[in-house]
Amino acid sequence: MIEFFKVFKLPQASNFAAGVDSIYDFIFWLTAIGFFAVVIPMAYYAIKYRRSKSDPKNTPYIEGHTGLEMGVSLGLLVIVMVLFYWGWSEYSRMINIPADATEISVMGQQWSWEFTYANGKKDRDLIVPQGDNIKLIMSSKDVLHSFYVPQFRIKQDVIPNMYTYLWFNANQTGTFDVFCAEFCGTLHSKMLSKVKVLSKEDYEKWNAEQETAHKTEAATQQKNPVEIGKELFTSKNCMACHTVDGTPRVGPSLNALFGKMEQLEGGTTAKVDENYLRESMMNPSAKIVKGFNTATMPPYQGQLNDEEVNALVAYIKSL
Ligand code: CUA
Repeated sequence: MIEFFKVFKLPQASNFAAGVDSIYDFIFWLTAIGFFAVVIPMAYYAIKYRRSKSDPKNTPYIEGHTGLEMGVSLGLLVIVMVLFYWGWSEYSRMINIPADATEISVMGQQWSWEFTYANGKKDRDLIVPQGDNIKLIMSSKDVLHSFYVPQFRIKQDVIPNMYTYLWFNANQTGTFDVFCAEFCGTLHSKMLSKVKVLSKEDYEKWNAEQETAHKTEAATQQKNPVEIGKELFTSKNCMACHTVDGTPRVGPSLNALFGKMEQLEGGTTAKVDENYLRESMMNPSAKIVKGFNTATMPPYQGQLNDEEVNALVAYIKSL
């Protein structure tokens, strides 16, 4: 019986799916019932009070009914507020990312997805363990894309020159579809990937295999983002102005910087997150830390590509 009222028949493969479906089903049936509750009486009265040839003068004058009008308005207000509260509480669950989530970086480009794991491994598919909180840190190399996993009921725009986030907890093993849900050019419809949700044991096995593969190809060993960032920190000469041990030099020290509330010139504050760090590299004068002079730092717009920015952010996070 309950099954009958469910509009979506897709698997509910994440922690959000059931909640999203409940709201969707509720709105669907509310509007379906509302539709018939309006249209059936409308048709009935249109026929009942029509002007006929036998009685052409019979068009009754109908006056308003204050009580009824107030009642309908208040009833609708209550329904709208319930929908708002319900939708908001579900949405706030989606945007409040748990601190213990495993981070995976996602790069969208015409016309593919690429996932980079903390160990430096890159893949065309997203591989995650069942039952763990996963945080996706997403950006785009070219135009707007949108990361969409229907079976998880999650979707988020992916935007060049900034980071957007998604999190989820996959509750069943299996392979699920990743779509691009924002028209991004000729091969938009081919911008597909898979999420592979492995059991904890299989995930450990996969991880171990990656590590072994890593060691055997020691010569061509792929560095992880933190190592790449550390090298860039030297090669791009960041260390001329920024220390990593907490002492300020020309610019603020990067030690334990990530996650901090930074006091800015002009009395405002800003949280140091991925977007803050990216902006500070690309356009240093946008936010000036109290007591520092911006004119010293050149903008790195055009000097660092997206992967280099990601690596530097990963390095700064690790300090
Ligand atoms: Cu990327 Cu559509």
